[in-house]
Amino acid sequence: MRVVVVGLGYVGSVCSACLADRGHDVVGVDTSEYKVDCLRRGESPIVERGLPDLIANAVRGGRLSATTRIAEAMPGAEIVLVCVGTPSAEDGSLDLSHVKRACAEVGTALKGAGRFVTVVMRSTMLPGSVLDELTPVIVQSSGGKAGRDFGVAYNPEFLREGTAVEDFFGADYTVLGAGCERAAAALRQLYTGVGGELLVTAIPTAEMLKYVNNSYHALKVAFANEFGRLCKREGVDSHEVMRLMRRDTKLNLSGAYLSPGFAFGGSCLPKDLRAVNSRARRHDLDLPVLASVQRSNDLHIADAIHLIERFKKRRLGFLGLSFKAGTDDLRESPILRVIGTLVGKGYDVLLHDPSLDMHRVLGANRRFVEAELPYLPERLRPELDPVLAHAEVVVIGNRSAEYRTLGPRVRADQVMVDLVAAVDRGTVTAGEYHGLAW
Ligand SMILES: NC(=O)c1ccc[n+]([C@@H]2O[C@H](COP(=O)([O-])OP(=O)(O)OC[C@H]3O[C@@H](n4cnc5c(N)ncnc54)[C@H](O)[C@@H]3O)[C@@H](O)[C@H]2O)c1
Repeated sequence: MRVVVVGLGYVGSVCSACLADRGHDVVGVDTSEYKVDCLRRGESPIVERGLPDLIANAVRGGRLSATTRIAEAMPGAEIVLVCVGTPSAEDGSLDLSHVKRACAEVGTALKGAGRFVTVVMRSTMLPGSVLDELTPVIVQSSGGKAGRDFGVAYNPEFLREGTAVEDFFGADYTVLGAGCERAAAALRQLYTGVGGELLVTAIPTAEMLKYVNNSYHALKVAFANEFGRLCKREGVDSHEVMRLMRRDTKLNLSGAYLSPGFAFGGSCLPKDLRAVNSRARRHDLDLPVLASVQRSNDLHIADAIHLIERFKKRRLGFLGLSFKAGTDDLRESPILRVIGTLVGKGYDVLLHDPSLDMHRVLGANRRFVEAELPYLPERLRPELDPVLAHAEVVVIGNRSAEYRTLGPRVRADQVMVDLVAAVDRGTVTAGEYHGLAW
């Protein structure tokens, strides 16, 4: 395929060389004469292991060339990969001006091309950038219609500097946000045999994914470093701790705890976080990531209260009181803070939990109920149906099996607020469904 790569920085140079290596006919474009001259000479404009050889071979083989002018590169192009920089503006917001300029030039070159060209953004950009900000630029400059005259797509780049060539060829998967089937088909063809499995999704999802990945990586670094600082003060071997932490691939290095849901709670996580933060304070250590985890959780609970109150209905039914299904341990169950606040505000609340029988709540749990939840015994119902009949707003608080199939039972006059992603929203056909963070 003939591919135009706009921007010969890190991403653009690697993409150009790797795609040319796979037999595509690639033209690189950059406003920098220096970078273009480098490439024309068969030299790499950036320092990256493995890249000089790839570029030299591709240029020698006539599969890679370069120019400073987009218009010159465009004839015959089927795909344009936009890889220009998206730096931070003064206020920290995303500066799309370079991408907009590149898109305008691509659009102008597409005018009257009489050919369907897929314009693929590879630069990192926030959701909405491709569809709301860049597509209109191409529409205006080309006079064409997206999906009919040209395609748009977003293809996040996951390479790491230093291992970029390996990352390109050996990626687990390539994610593609495609605006139309023709764009998806063009990218499938481009990536045949490279980049692992091709996963096609919506453009804003692909845009957000890049930020989720990078934020998670940054969070992991800060998390490990904060525990490193604490370990050093405690005389604990931080590398050994983290090595052992990483050995657990069930709960630690896994998908566990990584789905948006309700706040964490229970008898361990809040208590143990408090202990860690208290010990850090004793050392006069500032560990802002660990210190802000509880605050983040509190805000999530506040958001749930806000969501339930939004509907201005007085009769509420809470389903699931313990912090997870299948236990009657109520200590620090976050839903109880929601219920306590709303009971305090005079809402007419009924409660249900299949694992909770007041007669069998004993020991520390019993003392906790008596001290913190005096309203519970009189509002708890052993059967689900009376709570459903009573409620104008049904709030799902844990993922008990019997709640998951409640979608079709939501009445037309009812709202379901699902705090734990227990119910498939597609099954709620009569009333309203609202997820907390989805
Ligand atoms: N560097 C990385 O490891 C990496 C990894 C993944 C994603 N990204 C993202 O990819 C994008 C590019 O990153 P980079 O590090 O390659 O950037 P870079 O700043 O190194 O390169 C951008 C290039 O685009 C050129 N350019 C700017 N405007 C142009 C125009 N109108 N026409 C032609 N060329 C133009 C510049 O001269 C420059 O050479 C950014 O959004 C970045 O966040 C970078």
